[in-house]
Amino acid sequence: MEKIFSGIQPSGTLTLGNYLGAIKQFVELQDEYECYFCIVDEHAITVPQDRLKLRNNIRSLAALYLASGIDPEKATLFIQSEVPAHTQLGWMLQSINYVGELERMTQYKDKSKGKEAVSSALLTYPSLMAADILLYQSNIVPVGDDQKQHIELTRDLAQRFNNRYNDIFTIPQIRIPKVGARIMSLQDPTKKMSKSDENVKAFISMLDEPNRIEKKMKSAVTDSEGIVKYDKENKPGISNLLNIYSSCSGESIESLEMKYEGKGYGEFKQDVANAVISLLQPIQEKYAELIDSDVLDDILDQGADKASFQANKTLRKAKKAMGLGRVKKKKK
Ligand code: AQP
Repeated sequence: MEKIFSGIQPSGTLTLGNYLGAIKQFVELQDEYECYFCIVDEHAITVPQDRLKLRNNIRSLAALYLASGIDPEKATLFIQSEVPAHTQLGWMLQSINYVGELERMTQYKDKSKGKEAVSSALLTYPSLMAADILLYQSNIVPVGDDQKQHIELTRDLAQRFNNRYNDIFTIPQIRIPKVGARIMSLQDPTKKMSKSDENVKAFISMLDEPNRIEKKMKSAVTDSEGIVKYDKENKPGISNLLNIYSSCSGESIESLEMKYEGKGYGEFKQDVANAVISLLQPIQEKYAELIDSDVLDDILDQGADKASFQANKTLRKAKKAMGLGRVKKKKK
């Protein structure tokens, strides 16, 4: 069976963008592939985090994965820092990852911009991300559009390692959803929706209450033309809302354009909000049952054991190929 790995950072409460770009496809794929889904808490600490908030976000993310439909009988769900092989291989991959390559990463440029102190982990985190993927010999990595560059780098590192040492790693392929691959900020539709955005009106959190979702939709930045039409260049706000509506309802963008011909933005925005609320409400109900349950801990314990078993197999091979550690002498 082919393998899949993907992770999400517990750097805030998940947004509608994380759901549509990532989790939605995870749920669809878990029947066909051996899946490893991870809460990548070690990635989250590349920027400062409040200790207690991080703890809460980790648990909340685990509950959201499950509430969205990840089935622990089919997929392995675990926390990155509970499987030490990730940081071990991450370090080994840093030794073949060039500084120039890392400095070219768009996410590094974006997240370090204007900051006085930038952690070295923010620069080197793509090596850790490559380790996450390669440890499970993943064939496919389902992610949103923003992760393309990181997956390209992962492929380069895997090939470089295999050529330099031994043929250890599977070269993974990226998988991006056809709709919902890049949901944009509601306040600046030229920028992607992010859970760590300082402006809370810019994103819909998966746990936002219905009236909050309505308010955020109503204040979404659009244009003054009054025509509901998909045109990413000239109408980024309306195009983003069409994309959200289509991803949440399953209706095509063309049919939505026809439906709102001659109608104003007010009615359109209300209907987009309703589509989002209908999608999120059942997830929120399941989340409420799970968040304080013992079941959640049991699933994460079992997930860490299963993931460690697979990850350690690959780590042992990679260490051997690099010449790390020792070969024990036979006792005389
Ligand atoms: N706006 C988005 N549209 C579609 N997909 C998205 N993803 C993130 N934002 C969007 C996808 O969600 C998965 C998890 O992402 P992540 O949490 O590991 O990191 P990120 O891409 O940096 O996500 P955020 O929300 O922007 O987090 P912060 O604010 O902490 O940086 C990935 O598959 C990603 O493509």
